Amino acid sequence: MKGEVMAENALVLHVLGARPNFVKAAPVVSALAELGVRQGIVHTGQHYDALMSDVFFADLGLPEPIANLGVGSGTHARQTAALLTGLEDVMTEHSPSLVVVYGDVNSTLAAILVCAKLHVPTAHVEAGLRSFDRDMPEEVNRVVTDALADLLFATSPEALSHLANEGVDPARVHLVGNPMIDSLFSALPKLDPAPIQERLGLSGRYAVATLHRPANVDDPESARELVNAVAEVAEQVPLIVPLHPRGRGRLAEAGLVDGPNMKIIDPLGYVDFLSLVRGAALVVTDSGGVQEETTMLGVPCLTIRPNTERPITVTHGTNRLVTPASLPAAAGKSLADGATTPSGELPPLWDGAAGPRIARVIAAWLRGDNLSPAAKGKVG
Ligand code: UD1
Ligand code: UDP
Repeated sequence: MKGEVMAENALVLHVLGARPNFVKAAPVVSALAELGVRQGIVHTGQHYDALMSDVFFADLGLPEPIANLGVGSGTHARQTAALLTGLEDVMTEHSPSLVVVYGDVNSTLAAILVCAKLHVPTAHVEAGLRSFDRDMPEEVNRVVTDALADLLFATSPEALSHLANEGVDPARVHLVGNPMIDSLFSALPKLDPAPIQERLGLSGRYAVATLHRPANVDDPESARELVNAVAEVAEQVPLIVPLHPRGRGRLAEAGLVDGPNMKIIDPLGYVDFLSLVRGAALVVTDSGGVQEETTMLGVPCLTIRPNTERPITVTHGTNRLVTPASLPAAAGKSLADGATTPSGELPPLWDGAAGPRIARVIAAWLRGDNLSPAAKGKVG
């Protein structure tokens, strides 16, 4: 009985800031609502353009945030500093029982640090992914977040060994599947390529590219190399580029402009984007989430990165890593061969039920069940 009372009074806060956070959180928020858990969303404002934020709340049916911190953009230190002070105020005001953070963005890092210092328990969704490349800001965020989280939700099996190697208590770790794929499954009935193809004047085969990794778009020389490679893809197939705001200036300077076979457009809303991807012959990307979504949609994906924290999309999916130099030939081969998956099996537990699995673990945790001794000390 005591446990039930504790769960009833509990408040779960989700800290969200950037585009992929919204997609990962929606199934967890909805599954916790089904269980009657009191919860709220704190939007940090890391992403703020309507096409990077509002459209996701609408497309994914996310409830209005209880707070928007409006931190905006800046250097890593300035943005993280604004996140830390804003989140400290929110946590102090609301005294949540548990804070859930998602993925690997600066909002995730800041929330886990604030909560650790305030002794607020935390859960990390998408724990244990590693690129082993600390030049990526996301890898730093992942390592710190997993070191401090009380509950860790892993999306794929290799995450378990990465966490064990870093000394994380296995009792805190739950392999639950991938909530980003839950969102994809929920959206599937709405993913019709025809309307967006018509809007973009597409008839016949086409490819889609997304580019935003700092290593690709921030440095003028890398940006030029990338743009030249992408232009060679556009010589083979009409290419649509819904461009993340980060790459806008630098890639345009490097020559990424509209041409007879290439269209640069604003970022698309979630349903429009995945509808376009669903009908594509090929995707070229440096996104994390898009590697996963193309695997599930069976669309060939070429990822312009030297490594991936999502190797399961290569072993169990349609993803291949390429360099700018190897991209044009790899695109030609993909367009000729179509999607191929080495194992013939999709990643385990990417079945649309990750959100309910996470919600059940959280609800049990709020009741005080199944807790590791360390986490138990923090509850109540
Ligand atoms: C962030 C994440 C990255 C994630 C990506 C998802 C970090 C360190 N990086 O990168 O892991 O893959 O989000 O999209 O957290 N901007 C706008 N409007 C917006 C948001 C950003 O114009 O609504 C522009 C600003 O010029 C800003 C730049 O994009 O300086 C970068 O934004 P920021 O949130 O710092 O990093 P992302 O590159 O978006
Ligand atoms: N996405 C979108 N519109 C776009 C590009 C991407 O809705 O124009 C979605 C995509 O389907 C995925 C998420 O945004 O769900 C991935 O975000 P992003 O690539 O920005 O971040 P990453 O996954 O690399 O952290």
